[in-house]
Amino acid sequence: MTQRRLLVTAALPYANGDIHIGHLVEYIQTDIWVRFQKLCGNRCVFVCADDTHGTAIMLRARQEKRSETALIDDMRTKHVADFAGFGIEFDNYGSTHCDENRALCAEFWAAIRKAGLVSERQIEQLYDPVEQTFLADRFVKGKCPKCGTPDQYGDNCEKCFSTYSATDLVDAYSVFSGAKPELRPSTHWFIRTEDEHAFLADWTQTGDHLHPDVAGWLASAFLSEALHDWDVSRPAKYFGFEIPDAPGNYWYVWFDAPIGYIASTHQWCKAHGEKLEDWWRNPSVEVHHFIGKDITRFHTLFWPVMLKAAGYSLPTKIHIHGFLTVDGEKMSKSKGTFVRATTYLKHLDPQWLRYFYATKLTPKLDNLDLNLTEFADKIDVDLVGKIANLASRTANFVQASGLSAKYPDDGGLFADVAAAGAEIAKAYEACDFNLAMRTIMLLADRANKYVNDTTPWKLNKDPANAAQVQDICTVVLNVFRQLATYLAPVLPKLAADAGALLNEPITSWNQSQTPLVGTPVAKFQHLMNRVDRKRIEAMIEESRDDLAAKPKTEAPGTSPAADITSAAGASPAAGTSQWNDGPEPLAAEPLALTCSIDDFTKIDLRVARIIAAEHVPEAKKLLRLTLSLGGEEKRNVFAGIKSAYKPEDLVGRLIICVANLAPRQMKFGLSEGMVAAAGGGGPEGKEIYLLEPDSGAKPGHRVH
Ligand code: MSP
Ligand code: ZN
Repeated sequence: MTQRRLLVTAALPYANGDIHIGHLVEYIQTDIWVRFQKLCGNRCVFVCADDTHGTAIMLRARQEKRSETALIDDMRTKHVADFAGFGIEFDNYGSTHCDENRALCAEFWAAIRKAGLVSERQIEQLYDPVEQTFLADRFVKGKCPKCGTPDQYGDNCEKCFSTYSATDLVDAYSVFSGAKPELRPSTHWFIRTEDEHAFLADWTQTGDHLHPDVAGWLASAFLSEALHDWDVSRPAKYFGFEIPDAPGNYWYVWFDAPIGYIASTHQWCKAHGEKLEDWWRNPSVEVHHFIGKDITRFHTLFWPVMLKAAGYSLPTKIHIHGFLTVDGEKMSKSKGTFVRATTYLKHLDPQWLRYFYATKLTPKLDNLDLNLTEFADKIDVDLVGKIANLASRTANFVQASGLSAKYPDDGGLFADVAAAGAEIAKAYEACDFNLAMRTIMLLADRANKYVNDTTPWKLNKDPANAAQVQDICTVVLNVFRQLATYLAPVLPKLAADAGALLNEPITSWNQSQTPLVGTPVAKFQHLMNRVDRKRIEAMIEESRDDLAAKPKTEAPGTSPAADITSAAGASPAAGTSQWNDGPEPLAAEPLALTCSIDDFTKIDLRVARIIAAEHVPEAKKLLRLTLSLGGEEKRNVFAGIKSAYKPEDLVGRLIICVANLAPRQMKFGLSEGMVAAAGGGGPEGKEIYLLEPDSGAKPGHRVH
């Protein structure tokens, strides 16, 4: 096989926040893919950096009374340590605030200007006279102009869902200083992406650069009409790079951030005596970006236009993943599911999360759920029960003798596992880690059956069986080594331990194809622990922030909820995770692209009768309902409908419930389903309308 050359990036995390388990979906995914490529002998360079610019960093530094550079250096050190803790190995981890990036930004800017894509015009924007900075919509709050709810962000109301412009807010104030914003004119520079409409229509829709769902979304949400100009400048004060031919103005953070991919590559090149051109202007190098779906538009519409104008390679592929939910809900500080990397590492083994995410990741954009019970079970069953056990049940028996000199007859087991390598490699290549893990575990099942059938622990009791025991263990340890090789991209530590046990480091995918014979076996060292459930609880407890539920008054970025609202298709507002100067709300990102019939039929909707209803005294919004689903089947459900219904009026009514929702432990008891209702808005939250089937429907009927 010819050696491929690959340049791989993961999105540059904002310097403003700590790395959390949501981010880790992406960095673990990318690291697995990169390790797989390297294991296969491809030349692969994996670069990343901190994304450092923008208003939020500037104001936070001001608040903390230190320079922006001191703040971003500090954050970078933390990020680097977090990633290392999870075995994420970058070839270079840079910062967008570096000389290489400044120079590249100037080069891109000159090229984009030369291509005639820049225009300049005055716009009016809200300005914070105290902090002396212009305010993006999400930095302005006030009363909703429609329903009067206070403390609503600048572009949409959380209560009545109306959208408006920040200038329409009543009694508006800056979230930074509390001052009343003024409308001020300033000049901005724009990139006219519409001029590259034909190019984008072609690039996004052909050549397999994007998942078909993404291509379809771009075609219908953007490319069906004229593209908006993209505002790429910000007037002072702004923390970023000053635009050389527009003094007093700075490139918007999303202009310099992706260029940071190239800057980081440049740093790597300098350190390794390579030329940047050989990696970014070379058609034989594949460029692969890994990103989350909230930042799709920047990478699929703006970035290709910039690259084309500047004459750098266009991405070979943009791999886009969904968002993490925990126990079926977006990460939440008040529930303790907003878990920082450092908190996780204090309590749990990083290999566990790598494996669990691998079992969840596919090439699709679906969100992935970290169900904590499933997480613990999967580690115990798969990693301890199926993989580590292979070695722990056999290694000691051959520690003295080593492996048999000749590979024994194993009924074709080794050959079958070797043959499956091609299929597993294909799954890794396609980012279908879920399929790769399933295939590996099926092979592990076969190996465990072999151990159970051959019973080496029984045979070992009689010294006359020594040769037979040695042969059995030779088979099992060789299959263990094959599986450790297949798992090496996901579980590098397990692979290293397997290499140490069998006295040959695992460095190549091909090692899975030839058995080891006649080699020594080291003393067996414990490989993998079972999950202590108490440690999971402790981690959640440590992550719980009871203040988080309170309304937020501090600046975005330091606000507990602001940085998590993007999780799991929470809101249709574009990229709400970008509190640090994120996407402009041109249109909704593909938070939930499409729901297939398969997805829909996963939801078991049923007619149910409310047979009891009562207040939950400790809960402001909840009623406790007992539902009958026909026959003996009863459910206890907590429903947030107290503001609209009296318990006594509900008894006897038919409603629609979600019958297969994972049960949720609440303070007041277990909730075993969900009741369907319309509305949910209104000034006092009173607009809640329970859904009711037509007459004749019976409890237990399925809703199709
Ligand atoms: N700074 C930008 C990216 C610039 S790339 C030129 C950014 N930073 S971020 O810190 O908000 O997110 C970094 C990456 O992590 C993004 O790809 C984002 O989609 C991903 N995730 C952040 N939270 C996530 C989850 N809860 N779940 C899955 N991925 C998440 O965006
Ligand atoms: Zn409103």
